[in-house]
Amino acid sequence: MARIIAGVTSSHVPAIGAAIDNHRQAEPYWQRVFRGFERSKEWIAKVKPDVCIVVYNDHASAFSVEMIPTFALGTATEFPIADEGWGPRPVPVVKGDPELASHIAQSVILDEFDLTLCNKMEVDHGLTVPLNLMFGSPKEWPCPIIPLAVNVVQFPPPTGNRCFNLGKAIRKAVESYPKDLKVVVFGTGGMSHQISGQRAGLINSKFDHAFLDNLTRNPKKLTKLSHLELMREAGAEGVEMVMWLIMRGALDDKVDEVYRFYTVPASNTAVGHIILENRIKGAKKALAKSGKPASKKPAPKLKRAAARAKVDRIRS
Ligand SMILES: [Fe+2]
Repeated sequence: MARIIAGVTSSHVPAIGAAIDNHRQAEPYWQRVFRGFERSKEWIAKVKPDVCIVVYNDHASAFSVEMIPTFALGTATEFPIADEGWGPRPVPVVKGDPELASHIAQSVILDEFDLTLCNKMEVDHGLTVPLNLMFGSPKEWPCPIIPLAVNVVQFPPPTGNRCFNLGKAIRKAVESYPKDLKVVVFGTGGMSHQISGQRAGLINSKFDHAFLDNLTRNPKKLTKLSHLELMREAGAEGVEMVMWLIMRGALDDKVDEVYRFYTVPASNTAVGHIILENRIKGAKKALAKSGKPASKKPAPKLKRAAARAKVDRIRS
């Protein structure tokens, strides 16, 4: 049986992608951002997910004002790279998992979430920047990726509550898939930022930290935030954070926060990143199936206590 073992959130600032592509990571400005993801890369290299579901938003690469699906699931074998601004990034083609994606589509749609299915779809920095931040710059991405594009550009985006419940439906779908797979769900976008209008340049660190705290401990509170509240507090583009709630809905009610990083700014955006692990036995099972002897792992209770004590929080 497939299991969702963890969730990751990360901003997807396009300038981070440009910094990677132009080899500027060592510059002091960018070092501050990239050093926050060093431990995350170690974490994901240990966890070795079999598949990642990446929730992101398209930036007029696959879709335009002509066609605006609220939830678009990538069911293709592969997803070519495209982008606005700096153009397509020199990153590997994203390979999908059409079998699992079709299973998720069937389960979720029959669960009354009406997804748009994309058998052909280009993906942009919204998806590739978080992949780079977590996996570095490999020649090929280490596992199949199932893209889930969410409309957060054209009003009205889905509510946070709808996103949270979609996460739950995705979890149910994954857990009814017969193959033994470890799945990690990414929620991308945010944190506070506004790129145009009178409030351009807005960053609200106080709100961002509270959002991160609630994401771990009290996500239901976040599902009650209206779009207006999100935009007032986190800027017009801060509304992207509803996507994080899909990731959170796919996890247990109680999770272990194993890592957090926050820095401002990157370009004009607050960068927030968190890693949450499920406490369910399945996570232990899934990790044991990676070939590592389960006996060497601490008992779940101790592991949870250790995880809570060891949460790495980096702010700059
Ligand atoms: Fe974005």
